[in-house]
Amino acid sequence: MVLGVTGCIGAYKACEVLRELQRRDVDVHVVMTEHATRFVGAMTFEALSRHPVFIDQFALGAESEIRHVSLADAADLLLVAPATANVLGKFARGIADDALTTLFLGTTAPVLVAPAMNVNMFRHPVVVENLEMLRSRGVGVVEPGTGYLACGWLGEGRLAEVPDIVDAAMAALSRRRSLAGETVVVTAGPTVEDIDPVRFISNRSSGRMGYRLAEVARDRGATVVLVTGPTVLPAPRGMEVVAVRSAEEMARAVAEKAPGAGIVAMAAAVSDYRPAAVAPGKIKKQDGAQKLDLVRTTDILESLGEAKGTRFLIGFAAETDDLVENARKKRMAKRVDLMVANDVSRNGAGFASEKNAAVLIDAKGQTDLPLMSKRELAERIWDRVAELRARA
Ligand SMILES: Cc1cc2nc3c(=O)[nH]c(=O)nc-3n(C[C@H](O)[C@H](O)[C@H](O)COP(=O)(O)O)c2cc1C
Repeated sequence: MVLGVTGCIGAYKACEVLRELQRRDVDVHVVMTEHATRFVGAMTFEALSRHPVFIDQFALGAESEIRHVSLADAADLLLVAPATANVLGKFARGIADDALTTLFLGTTAPVLVAPAMNVNMFRHPVVVENLEMLRSRGVGVVEPGTGYLACGWLGEGRLAEVPDIVDAAMAALSRRRSLAGETVVVTAGPTVEDIDPVRFISNRSSGRMGYRLAEVARDRGATVVLVTGPTVLPAPRGMEVVAVRSAEEMARAVAEKAPGAGIVAMAAAVSDYRPAAVAPGKIKKQDGAQKLDLVRTTDILESLGEAKGTRFLIGFAAETDDLVENARKKRMAKRVDLMVANDVSRNGAGFASEKNAAVLIDAKGQTDLPLMSKRELAERIWDRVAELRARA
């Protein structure tokens, strides 16, 4: 893993973080900002880590490698402890003007930051906003503690305790590997059921929840197949993306891909009905009411439940009434291992929103998750999957 060290008094604690990680058999490479070297010498980290410390991105490493790329590729976690207000701001806004900030943009590894600063800096709206922005993009934050700060003030902003930072790093590393070797099929987005060449029936699903679930599964080491209805989202990197339109196309794609998968997550909002026939030409306007004949589509989740075997099945229940009760029934009826129930009538949650709140329902009980980013929610869902499968 990579330990980033930035310019503040707490930089000396990074030495303890490094030692503790080594005690837990983690190989640590250190990247320092120029300002960090004003607080602790690079020699200390070089001697402790037994690797060259990376500070100057314009200095070539061994065999002329470009280290901000090679380290970014090799890293399984980037932990920045302590993280200054300055570095958090650069991370949030994509400024890459030194080795650490360039590496941050170049890595696909999970990132964990442990902020440390004066209480007024920590409460400054721009710092609050930057941290919120980073959280919503999946960066983990080891919250600072409250107490006497190096500057003499009393308040929040003190670097978290070393054991807490190390525990958070170890948890992130184990999450990182929680789906290694697995093949996961995730469905996402709405389906579109054509009425005629210009009209269709669909729903408000944006696809975000399924895309985040697929991305987090990829980041945790899974081989991912994303079966997606039409969305405006860019195709995620590092996975097979199968684009479909209708419920029947989605059912066929899932039937083809699921046999090779140990886990299927059905996050798509699949139409329950489709027009009995698609009119070949545009249906003409008439006087009076118009009727549309609808027939049921294939229930993909039910089909997966029937052919379940040892496959782990994740279902989603979007409800506007009796959320938990309906989701519980659906879980039992469709032989789903983990049901993610969300109340789509709630403000700021669900369809088309970047945030969601959910209740996870499984054979062991129920976990209520408050409103959080869909990326964070995806992390919590995969955490629960790991727990349930470990117990099975
Ligand atoms: C003695 C001293 C202590 C500092 N402590 C902190 C701190 O705890 N947190 C912080 O965000 N900045 C602190 N700073 C300010 C940073 O060093 C400064 O913003 C610097 O530009 C950060 O550079 P870097 O983020 O590239 O390491 C401190 C500066 C000095 C001189």
